[in-house]
Amino acid sequence: MLIRTPRDWELPESACTPERDYHLRPRRDFLRTLGGAVAGGLAAPSLLSGATAGFPSRVNPDHRDPALQPTPYELITSYCNFYEFGTGKGDPKVNANRGWKTEPWTVEISGLIRNPLKLDANDLVTRMGGAEQRVYRFRCVEAWSMVIPWDGFPLAKLIALADPLPEAKFVTFTTFNDPKSAPGQRTSALDWPYFEGLRLDEANHPLAFIATGIYGRAIPNQNGAPLRLVVPWKYGFKYGKSIVKIDFVAKQPRNTWQVMTPHEYGFYANVNPKVDHPRWSQASERVIGAGGALGQRQRTLMFNGYEAQVAPLYAGLDLRRNY
Ligand code: MTE
Repeated sequence: MLIRTPRDWELPESACTPERDYHLRPRRDFLRTLGGAVAGGLAAPSLLSGATAGFPSRVNPDHRDPALQPTPYELITSYCNFYEFGTGKGDPKVNANRGWKTEPWTVEISGLIRNPLKLDANDLVTRMGGAEQRVYRFRCVEAWSMVIPWDGFPLAKLIALADPLPEAKFVTFTTFNDPKSAPGQRTSALDWPYFEGLRLDEANHPLAFIATGIYGRAIPNQNGAPLRLVVPWKYGFKYGKSIVKIDFVAKQPRNTWQVMTPHEYGFYANVNPKVDHPRWSQASERVIGAGGALGQRQRTLMFNGYEAQVAPLYAGLDLRRNY
């Protein structure tokens, strides 16, 4: 008999992907899944999606908590923030699919490490041993939320591959810069390219993840193909999309939103219902897709519900000052 003990951060079965979504998966993605789970050595055309086998797919209607239902694929992929492709929520789905090529894609791993690398995103996924699935809460600083079944690999695996030197204290994520393909980058909406950073110990936390898929399908362009950061206890703006460079540095970097409006956005961006945004409350959030067009409101949880796992990272840190 196979008994699997869930890890303490795993969302309950009610939050798992409905089986029908897996039955709807295109064949191409099943092949990728197999490639990711089995091979490593196979020259599969793409491994940028794919869940590991054995992910629970049964939904028990008695346990359904509307706030923890996975957000439908259609909403995750059409209600987006990706300023390179426009500032409207629906813009990225249209503008990121007008000929912008995300395969092949080269990513550079550099800085204070013993093993600098420049490699294709597919090769990186192969070196990470394929993709696994994580169902995580997602909380945007704009006070809306989703529940997203990501595919990808733990960031800690990539850090182990890079093999940081003792002087490395932070990891930075530079995202793509291609004004020809990205109309937003032809404007001064943000300081391009979009840039993010984490402390090395945050980046090494088992919850920190690099996503390559959603619902077992390759991650769509508008959600940050082919590689995007996922840090579920932080606000969504930390999740840099379409990463081209991961750099290990000694000093705390500034991130894009901190550069744009430092009195509103800081380096940490930990979800914290007790610290309001200067222009709105962070005590609650709209759950996109639940209870009507505007989304049902629910209370926001400290560290987005991952307090037991991540609070020790911030022991002794004033979370009001380090917002
Ligand atoms: N990454 C890049 N490169 N450009 C962006 O504009 N927006 C951020 C983050 N990553 C952004 C980005 C913000 S504000 C949020 S809330 C999330 O992506 C949104 O991710 P989603 O569109 O997949 O929901």
